Amino acid sequence: MSHFITLLSEDHRRVEDLFKQYEETGDAQVALQVCLELSVHAMVEEEMLYGLYSAKVDNAGAAEARGEHQEAKDLILQLEGMDTGSDAFASTMARLKESVYHHIDEEEHQMFPKMLEKLPETSEILGQEMVARRVEIEAQLRGDRAVGMAPSTTSQKPTNSPGSGW
Ligand SMILES: [Fe+2]
Ligand SMILES: [Fe+2]
Repeated sequence: MSHFITLLSEDHRRVEDLFKQYEETGDAQVALQVCLELSVHAMVEEEMLYGLYSAKVDNAGAAEARGEHQEAKDLILQLEGMDTGSDAFASTMARLKESVYHHIDEEEHQMFPKMLEKLPETSEILGQEMVARRVEIEAQLRGDRAVGMAPSTTSQKPTNSPGSGW
């Protein structure tokens, strides 16, 4: 029932909707949600899918996907240090969107079909395990971010250690 492709594609659609919503409203909370969703999604994929994909299906393809995740993480890190109302923030969000859309396209049109073709028997099991792991990771990341979150529309700067602030 919980096929990994269904699960990950639902995440992709949700992130695309959030990017659209951010473009329409410029709402910093929506941007925060984009970054959280992407972080959870990337961890789930890296922990549960990319290793298997690398070992059994396409090593180079997995390395490329990891590189694209890193690109997104670097952009998210930059966003975390920016004033959410600035032009730089909006243009970095636009770069993140472009990067993520490209990555989503490759996953859905190359990686997922190849994975399904090579390892059809693992697909359903993987999906079931992902549901549980996703919940754990999201709770963990929400907890981490809540600690360092700063009001987005004031000049107050986070004073926490690097990586914890929004
Ligand atoms: Fe990915
Ligand atoms: Fe993905």
